[in-house]
Amino acid sequence: MTEKFLGNKSFRVADHTVSASCPSNIALIKYWGKYPGQIPANPSISYTLNHCKTNTTMEFCAGKPFGIQIFLAGKEEVKFAEKMEQYFKNIEPFLPWILQGNYTIHTENTFPHSSGIASSASGFGAVAKCLMELDEAFSDDVRTQDPVQKASFLARLGSGSACRSLYDGLVVWGETREVAGSSDLYAVRYPDSEIHEDFKNFNDWVLLIHEGEKSVSSTAGHGLMKTNPYAERRFQEAHENFAVIRQILKSGDMDGFMKLVEHEALTLHAMMMMSDPAFILMKSGTLQVIQKIWDFRKETGLSLFFTLDAGANVHLLFPENEHSDEIKSFINANLMQHTQNKGMVKDVMNF
Ligand code: DP6
Repeated sequence: MTEKFLGNKSFRVADHTVSASCPSNIALIKYWGKYPGQIPANPSISYTLNHCKTNTTMEFCAGKPFGIQIFLAGKEEVKFAEKMEQYFKNIEPFLPWILQGNYTIHTENTFPHSSGIASSASGFGAVAKCLMELDEAFSDDVRTQDPVQKASFLARLGSGSACRSLYDGLVVWGETREVAGSSDLYAVRYPDSEIHEDFKNFNDWVLLIHEGEKSVSSTAGHGLMKTNPYAERRFQEAHENFAVIRQILKSGDMDGFMKLVEHEALTLHAMMMMSDPAFILMKSGTLQVIQKIWDFRKETGLSLFFTLDAGANVHLLFPENEHSDEIKSFINANLMQHTQNKGMVKDVMNF
């Protein structure tokens, strides 16, 4: 093995392998609309999931010409590698050694592709964590920033929502006066002492209503907000909703929580319906499930509600408590039939 120099550090020209795992997240107040430099148009808050993760191994051969090869679940992905190369070039100002070597990346998700669970969030989260491990070995700079915060900062530049996946529990991205320390540049944990116990043990069961490709990518969707006549009002409302959710989280107001979270999901879809071109991302199964959730709630008074991302699949949210068995039976008996292939991904958030 030969000694080479990168920055001020000498290192062996050998494979340097790092691994990381990062979960996905589900937003309660949604990020939809952004400014250049991956700056969100409004603050967002999400739950980080427990089981839906991306596991990534990155082999870095320092001193070799820059290039990236990616294998997703063992299959080489050339297009994905091109995107990753562009991403690495974009973040070079923050990791000056990053283009001085060659990468082989193996990555896999613990959840199905096209499930409506954000693999870009867990994927960029895992890549950012790997890069921070390499940074430990190759950077000559004295650390001035917390490494998790820097990983969140880097993940954001890959995919906005990814920056929230670096922390457990409830996580905020985007500056809001409601959350001390919140920033447009990275995510922060929502303060634990401000969260009622009832919100700390929650289920997220994702009904796979439609498993095909999404009709609009998030990037294109964010772009549509630039010309949406309702955009400014929406951004303002998201800010207002932070004041509302803060009270809800503190007091344990479950009814308020359900109302706000569903309103956010429907607003996201309404925004897309009012875009030019317009998109309807719900399928008939999505609407049928929503109606059944509302009927169930009216009949039983139990806390089952939903959120949606930019697709047709329904995230069923409900607290884990003495009523959850009844809710689970209802889902299996009445909602599963609306899935395309009996597909459902079960996750939990407990912290
Ligand atoms: C609807 O983070 O996927 O899931 O920054 O362009 O990668 P890019 O977009 P992305 O958008 C997520 C949008 C959302 C809402 C949310 O997660 O807040």
